[in-house]
Amino acid sequence: MLEQELKTLVRDVPDFPQPGIVFKDITPILQHPEICQQVVEEFAKRLANVEFDVIAGIESRGFLFGLMLANYMNKPFIPIRKQGKLPHKTVSESYKLEYGQATIEIHEDAIPSGARVLIHDDLLATGGTVVAASKLIEKVGGEVAGFCFLINLEFLQASGRLDRFSTNVISLLTYA
Ligand code: PRP
Ligand code: ADE
Repeated sequence: MLEQELKTLVRDVPDFPQPGIVFKDITPILQHPEICQQVVEEFAKRLANVEFDVIAGIESRGFLFGLMLANYMNKPFIPIRKQGKLPHKTVSESYKLEYGQATIEIHEDAIPSGARVLIHDDLLATGGTVVAASKLIEKVGGEVAGFCFLINLEFLQASGRLDRFSTNVISLLTYA
């Protein structure tokens, strides 16, 4: 079963990037092309009833499966990047995450007006990152259609923070 295979592959790294954080390392999954393909197919299956026009992925781990999924579902892909990386005119949001703070940006013309955007990231922890991404999407005229994650650290109880943007929240693995 895919969930079990993924759980076996995800590696816990204690005290990274700072003491007290148990880091979920997804890089071992990437060594298995057939499992990556199954991940994309599983996302697509679970998204069958979610209507969206484009997929936005968040730098950097949100790019890994975000672009694969966008290609598989024949949707445009929009990168949301860390501050100072996107070359054209940008809109920014600062936020706190499980182990620090950051600023992310989107190109101001990235999203056609009114487009429904599925946000993808590898992992939901406190939700700070995807809340900031949702605000960026609304600032540039899009509508958040849902979220999909490989991993939800459910014990951090972030999914309630996403409700105001969309209640479509998909995650393949949860850690209670
Ligand atoms: C990680 C992860 C999510 C975010 C989740 O990204 O990929 O984007 O943290 O945490 P949150 O729910 O508490 O906001 P990170 O900023 O470490 O960047 P990376 O993807 O470049 O490793
Ligand atoms: N991003 C935020 N918290 C994380 C964690 N515990 N493992 C991997 N990525 C994260």
